Parts: sequence; structure tokens; C-alpha cells
Amino acid sequence: IHNVIFDDSKEGSLHVAMEIATLIREKADKGQTCVLGLATGSSPIRVYEELVRMHKDEGLSFKNVVTFNLDEYYPMERNNIQSYHYFMHQHLFDHVDIPAANVNIPDGTVSADDLQDYCKDYERQIEAAGGLDFQLLGIGRTGHIGFNEPGSHFNSATRDITLDHITRVDAAPAFKGLENVPRKAITMGIGTIRKAKRIVLMAWGQNKSEIVKETVEGEISSEVPATYLQEHSNTTFVLDKEAAQNLT
Ligand code: F6R
Repeated sequence: IHNVIFDDSKEGSLHVAMEIATLIREKADKGQTCVLGLATGSSPIRVYEELVRMHKDEGLSFKNVVTFNLDEYYPMERNNIQSYHYFMHQHLFDHVDIPAANVNIPDGTVSADDLQDYCKDYERQIEAAGGLDFQLLGIGRTGHIGFNEPGSHFNSATRDITLDHITRVDAAPAFKGLENVPRKAITMGIGTIRKAKRIVLMAWGQNKSEIVKETVEGEISSEVPATYLQEHSNTTFVLDKEAAQNLT
């Protein structure tokens, strides 16, 4: 893991948006699609804001972009304002020229009976698209990436998962109470994420400094699933000073 530390989250976000935009343009120049794995939550908001600005002001086109989101609550309606489907359209997809058919977000409405097949198909679609060129990640205080909570296997694939208590507590304000936070989610696996050719994890603020230290300097363990990134050869952590403050 290679760390890059910025004065603040704005500077870090601009840096990440620039890398993504450069990749999209390089692929477009070669007539290729650019396959992006995307995250939700507070960490990537400014990255999406900057990509939207580049689309409007600099003509950055998303016509050659195919996206796969990491996760979605389960069960969850698409038009629920807490859904990751809603989040992605609000922050990115509604403001750029990505073809609707190129957007993939785990579907929180599939029936329990269809869930396993659905998850297998999500994996197949990532492979059929040529695999993830770039995976954007945040990190939860449990050490989750996507919603791969402690105990996740390093070869895990897209599947349903029970959310950790801490993860639900962190989500409670947005849901106006812990009792309203879904207990489950659909998430890409650690194995899915590790196959990405390039991974960038962002963490901002003091709140993330402990888990960032454990992830970067701790032993590789399923108890902190993000530590599996230590074995990925092309991963960068983009941090602000506060998130990096405990690193030795
Ligand atoms: C979101 C996701 C999660 C978040 C993590 C951090 O799609 O996969 O792993 O990245 O929970 O969330 P924030 O950025 O809100 O601190």
C-alpha cells in the first residue's frame, strides 16, 4: 500500500478525480471502455462533484464508462432516498452523459430466492465487461471495504452480508434511528475488489485514523478485511492529515 497524504479532503478528492478523468480519457483515445468500481458514503462525494464539474466545464465524457457499484442495502427500494441507487444518481449519474445501460448497482429489491443467482450474475457481468480497471473505496470503522465486514474471506465474491453493529450505528443518523438501518446488504466480495487493476482508498478525518493505522501497519487478517489490500500490488491510500495522524 502506497500512502499519499493531503492537507485536506478537498485536495485529496481533486487528486483522485484527476486520476479517474485521465484514465477515462486514455481509454477513450484507444476506443476502449473504462470500467469503474464505485463507492458511496461521505468519502467520495467531492470526487463525484469534481467529475461532474469536469464534464460540464472541460467536456469530460462518460460515454465509454461502465460502472459497478460496490454495494447496496438489502432489502432496499431504488427510489428510497437512503438507497445507494439514489445516492449515485443524485451525486453523479444524473449529471453526466453515461449511458443508463452502463450503470450497475446491486439491486436491493431482488427476492431472497433469487439473491444467490443475482450475486453470481453480478460477478459475471464485471468479468464480461473486462474486469474493473479502477476501484474507488472508502473504509468503515470496522475495517470494511464495500460491506465486507470482519470475518469476510479474502476470496469472497458478491454476496449478501449481515452488517456489523458499528456500521449500523454509523449509519443511524442518516436513517433517523438505529432501528431504521437495514440489517443486511449486498456487497462485492474481497475477491471481487482484489481483482481490480488499480485500487484507490480514501479516508478523511480523525475518526478514520485508528482503522487506517490498523489497515496499513497491522497484520493481514479477516478481522480487519481492508488489510487484505496489503497484498494488492497497485493500491494507493489517499488520506488527509487527520486520517494519517497515527501512521508511523
Ligand atoms: C460504500 C461502502 C462503504 C463506505 C464506508 C465509509 O459504498 O462501500 O465501505 O465506503 O462505510 O463510509 P463513509 O465514506 O461515509 O465514511
